[in-house]
Amino acid sequence: MSLPPHGATTLRPLLVDAARHGDLLAEARSLRPILISSASAANAVMLAAGYFTPLTGYMSRADALRVAREMRTEGDVFWPVPVLNLLPAADGIAPGERIALTDPNLPGEPILAVQTVERVEVLTDEDLRLIMERVFRTTDLDHPGVATLLAQGRTLISGPIEVLNFSYFESEFPDTFRTAMQLREAIAERGWRRTVAFQTRNPMHRAHEELCKMALERLDADGLLIHMLLGRLKPGDVPAPVRDAAIRRMVELYFPPDRVVVSGYGFDMLYAGPREAVLHAIFRQNAGCTHFIVGRDHAGVGSYYGPFDAQTIFDEEVPPHALAIEIFRADHTAWSKRLGRVVMMRDAPDHSNEDFVLLSGTKVREMLARGEPLPIEFARPEVAEILMRHYQAAG
Ligand code: ADX
Repeated sequence: MSLPPHGATTLRPLLVDAARHGDLLAEARSLRPILISSASAANAVMLAAGYFTPLTGYMSRADALRVAREMRTEGDVFWPVPVLNLLPAADGIAPGERIALTDPNLPGEPILAVQTVERVEVLTDEDLRLIMERVFRTTDLDHPGVATLLAQGRTLISGPIEVLNFSYFESEFPDTFRTAMQLREAIAERGWRRTVAFQTRNPMHRAHEELCKMALERLDADGLLIHMLLGRLKPGDVPAPVRDAAIRRMVELYFPPDRVVVSGYGFDMLYAGPREAVLHAIFRQNAGCTHFIVGRDHAGVGSYYGPFDAQTIFDEEVPPHALAIEIFRADHTAWSKRLGRVVMMRDAPDHSNEDFVLLSGTKVREMLARGEPLPIEFARPEVAEILMRHYQAAG
């Protein structure tokens, strides 16, 4: 069984097919080039790859505000995060015009997509505040998602797009970047009826590994999709190629080969916690998964979100039937010194914090930078070795 895509009967990737590519590129070269932000480019790649089905382009002010307030577009599509093309200024861009969106993430800024401009609007201070408060639950400029939003400018260029390529994701991550269409195919080829997706922006430690194994077992799932973010992160997060290598090594050594697909998607991290968890669930439904893991502090940063806010949003704010994919809610998992295995903390109510091996991200980075081995209860040695090489090379 595979679930239908979100809000549509078939995926609607906005990447143009081979027949249209030449004509669109020729037209694009005659259009005004507009350099867009990395966040807007990442939105285009997600639209191109079918993950953002059924959206057709960048949202207008009315859409963005309704999405921020109610998680719905004006066209009544359930959607948790505004998908925007924000620029510092309109520079004479006018409704009805077609513009060539150029890619800030590749040398020479090649054309990524063509947009038909529907509206040119300016977000007010109140609009921005509403978006920050609802989407990020904070207006703190130190929040990396808020900082990225505000750095782009406040001129909103909305309208449908056609996309020419997948930016740097296909060339930099040829074995890992996959579209929603490719993942649906991979799942169908394997004949999986129940597929659980795991989102990650980190190398996977024992807690992540066991969390995935628990989900496979408890859901009686046929397969696991480890689906990593390949786009931009805040400083301090582990770069995608290092993570990719560490995850692949872990899967190779510690998972049955026929139960796991490792892949990635081209999007920048928003750090929007609960709202991003809902977005994550939508695009895993589009990728053909039936279940999605949401654990502790999913897509969080600092202490902006409560550890399980990204789970309660599905109970409190996502209307029934808005999503077809089901959420696997995981408690904090960690190695129990008393039981000699990784457990969900709620399954070991007699334990105190000292009974678990718990290391903060900062502590882990410090240990790796000093060349100190990580406890084997915390990380597989083969994973730790790949990370240590990275941290030592980075100085
Ligand atoms: S995220 O930003 O992509 O969510 P991360 O890669 O750390 O960050 O987490 C991936 C998934 O694993 C998320 O669902 C997160 O909630 C979950 N997770 C990470 N560590 C733990 C843990 N120790 N216990 C429970 N869930 C966890």
